Amino acid sequence: MCGIVGYIGFRSGVAECLRGLERLEYRGYDSSGVAAIDTQGALAVRRAVGGVANLSQSLEEAGVVGKTAIGHTRWATHGEPSEQNAHPHVDCTGRFAVVHNGIIENHAALRAELKLKGHKFRSDTDTEVIAHLVEETFEDAGTLLGAVQQVVERLRGTFGFAVVYSEGEDKEIVTTRSGSPLVIGLGDDEVFLASDVVAVMERTRRVLFLEDGDVAVLRPDGVTFYDQAGAQVERDVTEIDWSAEAAERGGFEHFMRKEIGDQPGTVERIGSGRILFDHKGRRRVELSELDALLEGGTVPSRIAAAACGTSYHASLVAKWYLERLAKIPTDVFIASEFRYEEPLLGQTDAFLSISQSGETADTLASLALARETKLASLAICNVIGSRLTREADATFLTQAGPEVGVASTKAFTSQVIASLLVALDLGLRRGSVSHDEADAILAGLERLPTDIERVLDDEAHIEAVARRHANARAFLFLGRGVQVPVALEGALKLKEISYTPAEGGAAGEIKHGPIALIDPEVSTIFLATPSPTHRKLMANMSAIAARKGPVIAIATPGTRGLDTLAQDVIHVPHVRYELQPLVNTVVLQLLGYHVARTLGREIDKPRNLAKSVTVE
Ligand code: G6P
Repeated sequence: MCGIVGYIGFRSGVAECLRGLERLEYRGYDSSGVAAIDTQGALAVRRAVGGVANLSQSLEEAGVVGKTAIGHTRWATHGEPSEQNAHPHVDCTGRFAVVHNGIIENHAALRAELKLKGHKFRSDTDTEVIAHLVEETFEDAGTLLGAVQQVVERLRGTFGFAVVYSEGEDKEIVTTRSGSPLVIGLGDDEVFLASDVVAVMERTRRVLFLEDGDVAVLRPDGVTFYDQAGAQVERDVTEIDWSAEAAERGGFEHFMRKEIGDQPGTVERIGSGRILFDHKGRRRVELSELDALLEGGTVPSRIAAAACGTSYHASLVAKWYLERLAKIPTDVFIASEFRYEEPLLGQTDAFLSISQSGETADTLASLALARETKLASLAICNVIGSRLTREADATFLTQAGPEVGVASTKAFTSQVIASLLVALDLGLRRGSVSHDEADAILAGLERLPTDIERVLDDEAHIEAVARRHANARAFLFLGRGVQVPVALEGALKLKEISYTPAEGGAAGEIKHGPIALIDPEVSTIFLATPSPTHRKLMANMSAIAARKGPVIAIATPGTRGLDTLAQDVIHVPHVRYELQPLVNTVVLQLLGYHVARTLGREIDKPRNLAKSVTVE
């Protein structure tokens, strides 16, 4: 969504902000801007519609310099994308500049009040009220810190914002958050600010996360934190172990393709250190991450999970694992629904929250609801220090490294493996999984990086299939059993990056509606790897083929009957049934990617989408 950056130190703040903004471009944006304070203490602001390159040109033309600067990429919520509505926003006197993420819910009332006091508004944004409120409170408060502390009291909604002041004796950036993520990076005599760690990790690995209600004052020599009550507090420094290269495209045309290729490594990493051996040499898992969830050693009697997008699909696979292996009834909800319903939650239930970013507004609100009901909670999350990881009782970090492409790929497979490990651990504790079965599944997991490599090696064939079907009017993705969420995820991947309508679901359900879509211009992808319901699935495939619908089958070599039913077959290595979602997903990622590439889409930044949706 929107991105915030800031810099204070000895380098060019303008250049640092531009560098950070480029890193955040993937989050989705329509305009951007920078405010800098020069050595004379004057504030200069430049904003531009379109990419950061346009902003860079405008700053250069105007000769804007300054070692203290804040910047922003905007994804319009209030007011159309335009230069006027781009951030930073400035007060009437031109002394204060503000960049903001999130939504100020009471902005209309505040705007009316400020207008009555004579303030002149230049944009349609909710953000501008912050600049005028800072101006209004500054004289009384005496410091920028004091002004921001007073302003925060007036705001309702979710926000993270940063302010600079042009006439301050001490150069400083004051920043605060309530719901929207912000991270501060510490250098030597320089401090960085960003809404996503990806924007600072090229410069420093030592970061501090703002907690909700915190106000922080950034100066070149360090940061001072104040909590909601105004008391000075210490926040812990976190060392980020992601490599800077992890956030680079590394020679690939798109981040998405690079991240698909990362999966043999991410899959290996998630198991390492977590797979142990018992005295008989059998593999087992015992996740220390679950200790906080299983206080007193009691395994929950039911699990409720709520998530969004790809993480929702991972939660559906998690349900299958938890019910099959750990025999724990599991209900999965769409987080934007769960938070406003009255879910029936029991005291012995546990709550599962899966999120790549750990900052998705609906997912966080669902966790808050579960916590109100006093449920123990587990987060499966990719971002250390994110709000989800701080609010859940227990966290399983998926360690997939930064995911930049808007379409989630490696984060999904890591989430699925994390859920498998959780289910195996709970199953072993409850005795619903035998040690031999756990050993066999974990041995399969150890071989999985090689299996995924084999899928990647087949990319040329997958690309050729994608090209043949790229002009389809629509796609259907079908599976049965554990492949149903994989089909849903395959359809989501394809539609979000190619803009071609795609539907996913249970193959047995097609006769109740979706089969009406079938004609020679609608391609159907069948997840036809071995399963207890394979014959049923083949019957579903016959029904599509009989109606002249082109079929792409994903199957293991030697699967019978495909030559007459499927126009194209993509072979995958034979893996255990529990692990098939992982191998098949990689095929669907590549298929979606190459359909979108053939159609010439902007794969890493699909229209209307954002990587992290921190507002409702
Ligand atoms: C956005 C992203 C999706 C992601 C979803 C949930 O819509 O574009 O890729 O699956 O948010 O995000 P989370 O960070 O909670 O997994």
